[in-house]
Amino acid sequence: MANMSFSLILLSLTTIFSLLIPTLYAQSAPLPAPSGPINITGILEKAGQYTTFIRLLNQTQAGNQINSQVNSSNEGMTVFAPTDNAFLNLPSGTLNNLSAQQQVQLVQYHVLPKYYTLENLQTVSNPVRTQATGQDGGFFGLNFTGQGNQVNVSTGIVDVPIYNALRKDFPLAVYQVDKVLLPLEFYQAKAPAASPPAAANGTKSDTGDKKTPDAPSPANGSGKMSMEFGLVSGLWLMLFYLM
Ligand SMILES: *[C@@H]1O[C@H](CO)[C@@H](O)[C@H](O)[C@H]1NC(C)=O
Ligand SMILES: *[C@@H]1O[C@H](CO)[C@@H](O)[C@H](O)[C@H]1NC(C)=O
Ligand SMILES: *[C@@H]1O[C@H](CO)[C@@H](O)[C@H](O)[C@H]1NC(C)=O
Ligand SMILES: *[C@@H]1O[C@H](CO)[C@@H](O)[C@H](O)[C@H]1NC(C)=O
Ligand SMILES: *[C@@H]1O[C@H](CO)[C@@H](O)[C@H](O)[C@H]1NC(C)=O
Ligand SMILES: *[C@@H]1O[C@H](CO)[C@@H](O)[C@H](O)[C@H]1NC(C)=O
Ligand SMILES: *[C@@H]1O[C@H](CO)[C@@H](O)[C@H](O)[C@H]1NC(C)=O
Ligand SMILES: *[C@@H]1O[C@H](CO)[C@@H](O)[C@H](O)[C@H]1NC(C)=O
Repeated sequence: MANMSFSLILLSLTTIFSLLIPTLYAQSAPLPAPSGPINITGILEKAGQYTTFIRLLNQTQAGNQINSQVNSSNEGMTVFAPTDNAFLNLPSGTLNNLSAQQQVQLVQYHVLPKYYTLENLQTVSNPVRTQATGQDGGFFGLNFTGQGNQVNVSTGIVDVPIYNALRKDFPLAVYQVDKVLLPLEFYQAKAPAASPPAAANGTKSDTGDKKTPDAPSPANGSGKMSMEFGLVSGLWLMLFYLM
């Protein structure tokens, strides 16, 4: 009796292991270098915990842009990927409050048009250009501060360490960030284009007197912004048809 159940256990253990081993092997053994082009979504999907960022990359077309730019640029690229937790930790409504154009800017703010190793980032001169640009065409910058072998990325709103590289080989570096990099620009200029110009003749305008709350609350987009967004996506679509 005892012998039989022992061999039964042994049998089931062997079965479990024989089932497990190929899985373990598949997970630990790096797959042969992918023959296809670099695919940011694929990298993030494989790493897990980036579903929100993947969705944004997809919605804003930034994912396609990164893939084609990585393929064509000599400079390479760097992407800071906020985890799902990072998005969950945003004050509720932060993403929904952003206009379509601001969502594009937010995603582009996580992308540098140049490849940087962690060592590069420790000594880079600030601010570092991102892919995000404002209405005036100026770029949104990120600042990097190193201390020992630790490097932080800061926006003026958030400051967060970079410690995990999901991919580190040229031409594309992808680093995990545990906070969403919110651009300072979202909280500074409150839709300057949309607000009516102050009365030039010295008459005090009603709106000028209102105290703007200090609590960061992104300015919402205008119709103009959505139009611009449409234009940008349209251009990307065109590009893809051409390719
Ligand atoms: C990138 O990977 C995603 C998910 O794995 C896939 O849906 C998409 O088609 C891929 N894109 C390219 C250009 O290969
Ligand atoms: C990407 O967006 C398209 C529509 O724009 C949608 O059909 C597709 O399911 C999306 N993929 C992901 C991974 O979100
Ligand atoms: C990558 O670039 C080469 C030429 O530089 C081009 O032939 C190829 O189609 C590009 N592939 C993708 C996926 O963009
Ligand atoms: C922000 O703008 C979008 C459209 O651009 C709109 O759907 C959304 O309700 C607006 N949010 C707020 C808080 O006004
Ligand atoms: C970033 O660094 C530059 C140069 O050191 C500095 O002028 C700027 O104020 C910094 N910005 C933030 C948000 O820390
Ligand atoms: C990096 O940021 C953390 C907070 O997120 C802070 O405690 C730490 O001092 C920062 N390090 C540097 C080098 O700025
Ligand atoms: C000054 O502005 C007020 C309202 O903003 C307007 O009624 C008035 O005509 C203006 N005066 C001149 C001299 O432009
Ligand atoms: C979103 O917009 C609403 C209405 O403008 C505002 O009350 C709220 O504070 C905003 N939330 C965030 C997280 O910015």
